[in-house]
Amino acid sequence: MANKIGIDAGGTLIKTVHLENEKYCYQTFSTSNISDVVSWVNNHKEAKLMITGGKQMALAKLVENEVEMVPEFEATTSGFRALVDRAKLHLPDNYLVVNVGTGTSIHSVNGQSAERLGGTGVGGGMLMGLAYLLTGRTDFHEITRLAEKGDRNGIDLKVKDIYGDASPIGGDLTASNFGFIERMKQQEVKDEDVLACLIGMISESILMMAIPFAKTISTSNIVFIGSTFQSNPLFRQQLERFEELFDIKAYFPHLGQFSGAVGALLYR
Ligand SMILES: Nc1ncnc2c1ncn2[C@@H]1O[C@H](COP(=O)(O)OP(=O)(O)OP(=O)(O)O)[C@@H](O)[C@H]1O
Ligand SMILES: [Mg+2]
Repeated sequence: MANKIGIDAGGTLIKTVHLENEKYCYQTFSTSNISDVVSWVNNHKEAKLMITGGKQMALAKLVENEVEMVPEFEATTSGFRALVDRAKLHLPDNYLVVNVGTGTSIHSVNGQSAERLGGTGVGGGMLMGLAYLLTGRTDFHEITRLAEKGDRNGIDLKVKDIYGDASPIGGDLTASNFGFIERMKQQEVKDEDVLACLIGMISESILMMAIPFAKTISTSNIVFIGSTFQSNPLFRQQLERFEELFDIKAYFPHLGQFSGAVGALLYR
């Protein structure tokens, strides 16, 4: 039986981690069904809950276990380091961590010190909200699966759609997300294409915010964590497209979405 459980109660998903036979055991619950995680911890009444995330208070009120509150940004960076060490992933000392959760939070890490630099409301919650408004779909896996098949041509306006062959920068770069209104009026717009454009817009916006932060801390290494990358290959591909152009290296560590939960488990 686990004597401690690390919990990251986020705006959309609650991530838990505990040790079982010396192995980390990871679980994800939906924050909108918070009673599911309460039922689960009720089977572990002897365990102390180390809780982080924006919904930490809401969850703490519903459980009978002993609880300790862990600050989110500390948990995220220390948990991330622990996951990187466990995965034997070799990272330079100095890098940027971009946590794309419901919202997006950007941190600089240098050796053992970490600092939150900023954030944006453009993130996984925006993906879900706009996907719903634009296509009526609400299932994350359906949205990402469809987006993978989508075609951004004819919805996004590319540089070459304006300049033709004489473009001063890469013609395939986006000039205007969702900006090809003339073409949209002429042809049928499929849900899969809209969703591909949505993921394109969100990934490009996050990257354009992250790159200047990376430059200010003199790093080209950007580590992306958060559940928004789970089973979402298009999101990764869209970010990786820019590695060469902006001379950056993007990392997507395995289990990165559990950084907060692991950091909470290991706290003090
Ligand atoms: N099964 C799922 N259900 C809903 N959203 C999912 C699911 N899997 C991945 N996602 C995506 O992950 C996002 C949530 O990511 P994450 O769990 O990192 O955020 P959070 O910790 O809940 O939020 P925050 O840290 O901003 O409070 C969702 O907005 C959605 O885009
Ligand atoms: Mg979170």
